[in-house]
Amino acid sequence: MDEWISLEEQFGAHNYHPLPVVLTRGNGAWVWDDQGKKYLDMLSAYSAVSHGHAHPRLIKVLKEQAEKIAVASRAFYTDKLGIFLKRLCELAEMEMGLPMNTGAEAVETAIKAARRWGYRMKKIPKDKAEIIVAEGNFHGRTTTIVGFSSESAYQEGFGPFTPGFKMIPFGSASALEKAITPNTCAFLVEPIQGEAGIVLPPAGWLKEVSQLCKRHNVLLILDEVQSGLGRTGKMFAFQHEGIQPDGLILGKALGGGLLPVSAFLSKREVMEVFNPGSHGSTFGGNPLAAAVGLEAIKVLIEENLIEKSRDLGDYLMKKLHNLKSPLITEVRGKGLWVGVVIDPKKASARSVCEKLMLKGILAKETHEVVVRLAPPLVITREEIDWAVDQLADVLKQLG
Ligand SMILES: Cc1ncc(COP(=O)(O)O)c(C=O)c1O
Repeated sequence: MDEWISLEEQFGAHNYHPLPVVLTRGNGAWVWDDQGKKYLDMLSAYSAVSHGHAHPRLIKVLKEQAEKIAVASRAFYTDKLGIFLKRLCELAEMEMGLPMNTGAEAVETAIKAARRWGYRMKKIPKDKAEIIVAEGNFHGRTTTIVGFSSESAYQEGFGPFTPGFKMIPFGSASALEKAITPNTCAFLVEPIQGEAGIVLPPAGWLKEVSQLCKRHNVLLILDEVQSGLGRTGKMFAFQHEGIQPDGLILGKALGGGLLPVSAFLSKREVMEVFNPGSHGSTFGGNPLAAAVGLEAIKVLIEENLIEKSRDLGDYLMKKLHNLKSPLITEVRGKGLWVGVVIDPKKASARSVCEKLMLKGILAKETHEVVVRLAPPLVITREEIDWAVDQLADVLKQLG
């Protein structure tokens, strides 16, 4: 184990702080380390592995497509991309999609689309377009994106940053209305803030936001890279509020836990601002990604993973509330996406995760005080029972 860790530490940049475990294999909700020890995966690669590890249907499609054609570039058409985008558009009630690879790239795509739409459709003066974002946001790690983060750790030493972004408190409709000017082209927001620690806005906020955006001709662009595709117990988190955004950003689970696959979806009027040469990606929309992405959506629906997320998520939340541990100050979440807030005076979230690891559970802290529980949606009730028992033991030890 030490050998693999020291190799990574010596030759890899230290931009993560991993738990000291070396994973070599995964199946369903479980992963194995290099010593053969088994762990329940309660992180699922930050929600990228919602289908579970090595899902047989996804592996089958991956292999079959890889043997036919994997990468073609967008210099040519393929028999996979159109079908994939059509299905995505149908699901999200959007008209067009632009495929990318990582979440951050899809966010960048949305920013470019919103700005060009602002200049062309809303007649915003040249280089004056503004995008409003929320405090506590996480949209990725490119220089433009970290430039509008409220986290100094994400920004320190990386400036100067791209202008044109305004920040409002997450969950405040009045602040949004005040921040909107004739130059505002979009409000970019996560329906539930994941990296901030599974932070839910007040009920009804998104609906109000949607009405405000419509009234002021501002695009509502939702970043559902983490919340989308069943994680919250609906296909998309915005469906909890019965709204329809103008743009939707998807990633992570779209690749079925096998590949980076992301997309920006929108209405025709927005997407048609792109013309050849204005945007692109060598790998974006490759037939391997499109085939796996399409199967990933089918598996979510046909294996009822979204309903499972809703029901087992409620079950997990109830069990966590019933723990009544003095170390827990709050349990919050939606679907199989739960933040357990640890009282920093009593223990750190990191220490909880380290002890969980010794008991055979992999979870990861976010922001020092939150233990994030986001297992693959294929997890069973019995596995949840076992996980919560282990967490109860760890909290007792630390308390
Ligand atoms: C809401 C949200 N947007 C964007 C991203 C960035 O995705 P990626 O790491 O694939 O670039 C993330 C990653 O955690 C995310 O949670």
